[in-house]
Amino acid sequence: MTTTTTDGPALADEDPKGTQPQGAPHGDPFDQDDLPTPRGATRALLVSLLGPLRARVVVASLVLLVQQVAVQAGPLLVAYAIDSGVPAFRDHDYGPLIAVGVGYAVCSVGAGVLQYAFIRAAARINQDVLLDLRGRIFRHAQALSVDFHERYTSGRLISRSTTDVESLRELLSEGLQELIGVVLSFVSISLMLLWLDLGIGAIAVASFLPLYLLVRLYRSRASQTYSARSSAIAGVIVKFAETMNGIRPVQAFRRERANDADFAVLNRRHELRNGDALLEMARYVVGSRLVANTAVAAMVLWGAYRVASGTLALGVLAAAVLYLRRLYDPIDRLAMFLNSYQSAAASLEKIAGLLAQTPAVPEPAAPKELPAPACDRPGREVAFDGVRFAYRTGGEVLPRFDLTIPAGQTVAVVGSTGAGKSTLAKLLARFYDPTEGRVLLDGTDLRDLATAELRRGVVMVTQEAFLFSGTISENIAIGRPDATPEEIEQAAAAIGAHDFISALPDGYATDVRKRGGRISAGQRQLVAFARALLADPAVLILDEATSSLDVPGERAVQRAMDTVLHGRTAVVIAHRLSTVEIADRVLVMEHGRIVEDGTPAGLIGGEGRFAGLHRAWRESLA
Ligand SMILES: Nc1ncnc2c1ncn2[C@@H]1O[C@H](COP(=O)(O)OP(=O)(O)OP(=O)(O)O)[C@@H](O)[C@H]1O
Ligand SMILES: [Mg+2]
Repeated sequence: MTTTTTDGPALADEDPKGTQPQGAPHGDPFDQDDLPTPRGATRALLVSLLGPLRARVVVASLVLLVQQVAVQAGPLLVAYAIDSGVPAFRDHDYGPLIAVGVGYAVCSVGAGVLQYAFIRAAARINQDVLLDLRGRIFRHAQALSVDFHERYTSGRLISRSTTDVESLRELLSEGLQELIGVVLSFVSISLMLLWLDLGIGAIAVASFLPLYLLVRLYRSRASQTYSARSSAIAGVIVKFAETMNGIRPVQAFRRERANDADFAVLNRRHELRNGDALLEMARYVVGSRLVANTAVAAMVLWGAYRVASGTLALGVLAAAVLYLRRLYDPIDRLAMFLNSYQSAAASLEKIAGLLAQTPAVPEPAAPKELPAPACDRPGREVAFDGVRFAYRTGGEVLPRFDLTIPAGQTVAVVGSTGAGKSTLAKLLARFYDPTEGRVLLDGTDLRDLATAELRRGVVMVTQEAFLFSGTISENIAIGRPDATPEEIEQAAAAIGAHDFISALPDGYATDVRKRGGRISAGQRQLVAFARALLADPAVLILDEATSSLDVPGERAVQRAMDTVLHGRTAVVIAHRLSTVEIADRVLVMEHGRIVEDGTPAGLIGGEGRFAGLHRAWRESLA
């Protein structure tokens, strides 16, 4: 089997039965490279996670140390019993044997109690680390800019905070205990062997060198394998999440079979990676046992020879053999540790890569205050000053763009698909920063505003009108969390949403994720409007926010919009020309440029593009 990590074409070779479709699945998650992890970021993350718990880690390790000493004392007591206790017993001196018996009992019980104490302490450390880590991933991902989320799918984020965090859990809960146990056993047993007999001890210690080399070899080989495995499971989750999120188009366009095939490829790829990891581990186990068995055989043969020639006591050889068995027992446990270590290291590296991402629209170091708003109207002036913008290098969407919208003006933006209208809106809401130039709110660069102030000042309502799980009332209150129920109802009434909300099973308390709480796309848009009205921003951006409303509904919304937009600065992007008529000013955009700019009446009366569009629309109504 190949241990390649370049997924894709290699898959065909790995599938001798040929049961898989050829090539990579559509929208292959492996096409998107994982985020690069800066050097040292993984270690820094681990240190920052465990650092605050340092004292508890030390105490837990000490408990484990004492526990190991108690466990290791057993064979020593046996040696003492054979070499001193039994001869004394023959001379009717029962003291030494009784002492050994009591000592053995104390060590056994003590080891058990300490083990329990350690497991408890370790479990709590573990819990704190994982809580911290998962919280960090969530907070960080949430703070990252929209542009990041458009690249990194939610499925991969889920994978990072589930399977990757889980593999760290495995390392911390079992792996770490294994490691401490193994290292302590190695050290204490080696010392004991050296103390019992220098020659036998020396062979044991010498056998550690090939073991060490083996571990190094395993680690260097396994890190790629485990990283590939972590990517592979992320691929499975991404496909799962994407398919289920898009279940309507999936079923509408009968994508099930194609999806099944894609999923089979990803699923199988993950299993292959899993197999690679197991195989890597098996190689290590076989190698380490070989080293161990060779060393044991050498020691026993040599020990027997020395007993026969009278230079070694039989009791010492018996104790040495008992210790030897114990010395190499931990090797398999070391393999378990290495397994969880590699897996966690690969996961932690991916998490560190995610956490190292910085928001493309960073919070300013020294935020500026907006000037106090004019008291008669809530609106603020908006200006695009020499703005250029590209999502990716090369494809400029807005070539040098200048625009000033006076406070309180309602501007309608129309233009063909892909003209850059939504891009304009996203820049104004600072989901992106311009590649060049500035976007200003009352003369202040958006980049200088604290995010909280910016979000209070500029609100964007989009076509999706997303509802969060919770009640209708809670969904409206997102606009202003401290709003009273009366204010929420007033906002809904002003929008014309009160009637349909009251007709829901539980009215405003209806849960939008439960049966009966499911509302239509147009109703969702009304809720989103009410939310925006309640938020009462200085600048309101509506991007196709009325697109799901039917014509009678739209009339009501037209009135509602008058209410919402009154006094505010507003940018309304609409395909429907009826919506445009309420604007003070109309901008026609093509290829990222404004090609017409005037009042609705002025443009309709003219000979430009808007006049043509408007005529066609009028005719379609007739
Ligand atoms: N996230 C993105 N990454 C890369 N390119 C994008 C992204 N979003 C939009 N674009 C590109 O930018 C251009 C302008 O898109 P924009 O969404 O602003 O158009 P629009 O005028 O709102 O169109 P529509 O009327 O269809 O909503 C398009 O060519 C589009 O392909
Ligand atoms: Mg758009």
